Amino acid sequence: DWNMPDYISEAVEKIRAQVGTDEVILGLSGGVDSSVAAALIHRAIGDQLTCVFVDHGLLRLNEGKMVMDMFANNLGVKVIRVDAEDQFMGHLAGVSDPEQKRKIIGREFVEVFDRESGKLTNAKWLAQGTIYPDVIESAGKGKKGQTIKSHHNVGGLPEHMKLSLLEPLRELFKDEVRKLGVALGLPHDMVYRHPFPGPGLGVRILGEVKKDYADLLRQADAIFIEELRNTPYEATIVPGFDQDSEPKNWYEATSQAFAVFLPVKSVGVMGDGRTYEYVVALRAVQTQDFMTAHWAHLPHSLLGKVSNRIINEVRGINRVVYDISGKPPATIEWE
Ligand code: XMP
Repeated sequence: DWNMPDYISEAVEKIRAQVGTDEVILGLSGGVDSSVAAALIHRAIGDQLTCVFVDHGLLRLNEGKMVMDMFANNLGVKVIRVDAEDQFMGHLAGVSDPEQKRKIIGREFVEVFDRESGKLTNAKWLAQGTIYPDVIESAGKGKKGQTIKSHHNVGGLPEHMKLSLLEPLRELFKDEVRKLGVALGLPHDMVYRHPFPGPGLGVRILGEVKKDYADLLRQADAIFIEELRNTPYEATIVPGFDQDSEPKNWYEATSQAFAVFLPVKSVGVMGDGRTYEYVVALRAVQTQDFMTAHWAHLPHSLLGKVSNRIINEVRGINRVVYDISGKPPATIEWE
């Protein structure tokens, strides 16, 4: 079996031998892979590592603050946070095609990352949280919208900065990456978070992305996730979904759950007035591989509570619907 302390000391020695006294840059996204890579490399070389965290304004509620609290404040990792919300929103204005939005977000991401990395003129290495399934996958076709992974050698970085790749998680599967993350001191909830797409809320706001929409969506999404975490799970047998460990709550019992912003208005009533506001859809799926997925049979009481809370707490949303489409024929995301 896998001996974690031995694994960590070997991995640390390997990184030290590889980079020596060189400086390393890592693009931190807040996702599991880049976070675990950052924690491992930091364990090996401390301040020789600088992380660049691009906030594109399409992150979840308080996500930027959580990343900074965990890495900069608790672990003492050097992190440069780049607030690029205006740049991303500017380039996304007027664009409603999903693939076009993905392209723009990917392109701007690389642009911002390279601009900030270019300031770290002593760096010799670019670290990435590439894991074993990514290695296999990139032998075939890449995942849609993938940005930072495999972006080395792109233009934008100064010519003298020929960075070598450092990929300490290349041989690990996702469950191993998670165990490593916990062993390195990352919080359990962060390491076992549902996957979040690179383009973030950009593909969960249907059509044109606007800051106001993102702000509403962030609030609705946070309420949904909070209630999933707070609602105990009573075991029901779901075909095609078996977990390694018994889920304790509905967040753990689902593979991915989130809110989607629909830029259409519908009529409602509030007090003795009529409202005309936006709609939010809730999506929760259970899946093994994300290639096919079942919609989660969430308890009606949970759905009711989430709906009430969103409508009462999020000014600008007066209707909540639940997505009961399977994949296929629907996809997990709405775009
Ligand atoms: P779909 O919507 O295709 O999603 O059923 C399957 C899984 O892929 C994720 N996803 C993405 N991840 N960039 C990403 O990094 C993307 O552009 C993207 N689109 C979908 C989705 O969240 C789900 O886990």
